[in-house]
Amino acid sequence: MKKKRLWLSFALMFSLALAGCNSNSASNNSNKEDQGGSKGHEKLEIFSWWTGAGEEDGLKALIKLFQEKYPDIPVENAAVAGGAGTNAKAVLASRMQGNDPPATFQVHGGAELNEGWVAAGKMEPLNDLYEKEGWMDKFPKSLIDMVSKDGKIYSVPVNIHRSNVLWYNKKIFAENGLEPPKTFDEFFQVAEKLKAKGITPLALGDKEPWTATHLFENVLLGTLGAEDYKKLWTGELSFDDPKVKEAVNTFKKMLDYINEDHSSRNWQDAAQLVGKGEAAMYVMGDWVKGYFVNDLKLKVNEDFGYVPAPNTEGKFMVITDTFGLPKGVKNPEDVKKFLSVLGSVEGQDTFNPLKGSIPARIDADLSKYDEYGKQTIQDFKSAELTPSLAHGSAASEGFVTKVNQAVNIFVTQKDTKTFINTLVSAASELKK
Ligand code: GAL
Repeated sequence: MKKKRLWLSFALMFSLALAGCNSNSASNNSNKEDQGGSKGHEKLEIFSWWTGAGEEDGLKALIKLFQEKYPDIPVENAAVAGGAGTNAKAVLASRMQGNDPPATFQVHGGAELNEGWVAAGKMEPLNDLYEKEGWMDKFPKSLIDMVSKDGKIYSVPVNIHRSNVLWYNKKIFAENGLEPPKTFDEFFQVAEKLKAKGITPLALGDKEPWTATHLFENVLLGTLGAEDYKKLWTGELSFDDPKVKEAVNTFKKMLDYINEDHSSRNWQDAAQLVGKGEAAMYVMGDWVKGYFVNDLKLKVNEDFGYVPAPNTEGKFMVITDTFGLPKGVKNPEDVKKFLSVLGSVEGQDTFNPLKGSIPARIDADLSKYDEYGKQTIQDFKSAELTPSLAHGSAASEGFVTKVNQAVNIFVTQKDTKTFINTLVSAASELKK
């Protein structure tokens, strides 16, 4: 039954792929006969959604490192543009369905991996690789659990991103004598003052609807607290609970303070508003830091600052990008070589300072990370960890797709009752 449901959601994603996938995927259609690489190696196709500003620098550096170590293995960077995998996931679903998996692909630890590809029997376990590389005590247990099912480990985390960050423009705050808000009350006070001065308080770019879900998950966490937030995904707390309603109403109130052109912007375009001083605050994952620093050339704690999203101090909404070994690939040993570089200290310290994330490994070289990175590495150790909904850890892809649709409608219609009813009925997708 579950498999059937899974394939139905893959089929849905497949049609989305046909309808809207980005042309950057041209490399995915590469002719198989062309793929025999040098010296008998198949091309190592690395599939992700890391293209363009704020996304690709870390991946490119990691691929370069791999190529230095394994010059004989030809690599194809098969990235499909679209934040949070908006298009890539659909392309991947159609390829997996057609038994044409890429050599390795980006997948979030948690439900997206375990209830998706692992449950569908599409992934090889990697316990032998973890043993061989001595990784069992090099990654936090919480992270290994996110990439494991029934004692088998199915992917290698390259990073940890934090979802619950509020980024703010330092100049705007200083000029207006404001402190970054810690609570929802403070957020609304600051937002009112900014609005009165004609400054857009909060940036949003929900051309791809996941960004609004991203804001919503952090309002849920800030309102419910970590324990109750986690209960949503096990079915112990219903979406019609009064606390969820309170969160929806807070989310709705926040939407009174966003930029008018939100639906024509993507996450980078919205970040740009804050980076360039056209909006004051932005709730987004810390890939924004990579974008601010690498692309907009802004300085950490000079041009922009950061605090936990309102009411989420001491909590860490975890996102982990991981890569695994799909069943049926022609070059499994080469894939493992790539995974071993990706999981090495050197690999993680090459990728993460550029990406804005922190290393998944516990023994990375701290000196490679800026103030934001160092602070976040500390926070991860002491904070209460919660799984991200918008980025695949908390719930299955089918559920997330429905939430994205519902949130997207809510942003324009602001109908709390309809939104909650949709969440309640979508919750039947959740693994209880
Ligand atoms: C997340 C992913 C991040 C970043 C972001 C924006 O889902 O985990 O690495 O790429 O999407 O695209």
